Amino acid sequence: PMAQPWSPNSWRNVPILQVPTYDDQAMLESVESDLRRQPPLVFAGEVRSLKNRLAAASRGDAFLLQGGDCAEAFAEFSADHIRDTFKVLLQMAVTLTFAAQKPVVKVGRMAGQFAKPRSAPMESVDGVELPSYRGDIINDGAFTAESRIPDPRRMMSAYNQASATLNLLRAFAQGGFASLEQVHRWNLDFVAGSPAGANYEGIAREIDEALGFMKACGLDAHMPQLSEVDFYTSHEALLLWYEEALTRQDSLTDETYCLSAHMLWIGDRTRQPDHAHVEFLRGVQNPVGIKVGPSSDPDEIVKLTEILNPSNEPGRITLIVRMGADKVLEHMPAIVRKVHGAGRSVLWSCDPMHGNTHKASTGFKTRSFDNVKNEISRFFDVHEAEGTVPGGVHFELTGKDVTECIGGATAITDEDLASRYHTHCDPRLNGSQSLELAFLVADRLKSDRKKAAASVAA
Ligand code: PEP
Ligand code: CO
Repeated sequence: PMAQPWSPNSWRNVPILQVPTYDDQAMLESVESDLRRQPPLVFAGEVRSLKNRLAAASRGDAFLLQGGDCAEAFAEFSADHIRDTFKVLLQMAVTLTFAAQKPVVKVGRMAGQFAKPRSAPMESVDGVELPSYRGDIINDGAFTAESRIPDPRRMMSAYNQASATLNLLRAFAQGGFASLEQVHRWNLDFVAGSPAGANYEGIAREIDEALGFMKACGLDAHMPQLSEVDFYTSHEALLLWYEEALTRQDSLTDETYCLSAHMLWIGDRTRQPDHAHVEFLRGVQNPVGIKVGPSSDPDEIVKLTEILNPSNEPGRITLIVRMGADKVLEHMPAIVRKVHGAGRSVLWSCDPMHGNTHKASTGFKTRSFDNVKNEISRFFDVHEAEGTVPGGVHFELTGKDVTECIGGATAITDEDLASRYHTHCDPRLNGSQSLELAFLVADRLKSDRKKAAASVAA
């Protein structure tokens, strides 16, 4: 059938899930009109360059590293918090770049990751029932009736925080903080100073030698390739009033972009083909991620790629698979086969977080490092068996030394979770667990690269 006409607000005419009902319509409209007057957070040219890089990753010529908080929070907004997340992502990226011998595309879950889909609309504590917390852009997490009322003015606070966050990220990325030598020094500190690092001394030394060689050849540390990085932002495009208000027509190309972030994704709970989130993202030119959970029907995933990418443009769609370690082998191969068989161009990325959440014996919502690790390695195994490209990873992480996920080389236990459990939503990998995973993925990328080279030689 012919596609219906699209406009930035055509999502308002179809069913929608996981968004609040605002009681104060006048206030909502006033915030929307304020937001429409704000400058865009990113530039359409940057969005196009990310799409090209993701297209390269879908072919196996680059690798996507996406990560950050589950939910950014107004109370956790600080320069240190932004720096720590940025820093750990760069440290992971250096390791992956070296192991894969390919560019790593760095995308933060940052500067806009404020809205959360929830598994239940209500939350009960000691017999009291209140609407669920839906992220700081919507309501407040404190367990009082007042706090849980959705307030449209929070969209403006989120915009302002996203804007300040991006400003600092751009300064870090271009201002010398992110130089390759610097990031490598941090990795050496990690290797020397933590039980997790000890296993990775080999790869860190190899990077050290490569850098020494480059220096001896006269490659200057001030060259932009060595002293700067390209860093992109992303979030779940859940709160569509906010996304619509930041949607603009690019003056260079006349194309429409949602300029609240470079990349946007659709959550596992809101990917119904005839619903509002798909309708909205269908008409903007950004790279779009689709979360693919265990309930995904392979034909429906193919259909989504057709609705969202009718011209089959490479780099447009990233399928972010999040099955859970025990379900990947069961559910993923059929989806990979259908999508591949239909000739759809997609980038396959692995989110080993959202299918692996469980309740610890001490009551905390947690994830085990081993499940995260196993989901990643099975994701690679499926691609190896199907002859497709494992093109990226997607993590909930922080550079801080939190205790939210169990396991890893520092062996965080159920009992340890209470000591530094700070997340506003899902449990994140801490800095050490994140680097440990980067080294594990690096090992896999390196051995896959060697296998590929051997098969070419043979
Ligand atoms: C998320 O990425 O924070 C999230 C809610 O993911 P999913 O939609 O895959 O559950
Ligand atoms: Co999450």
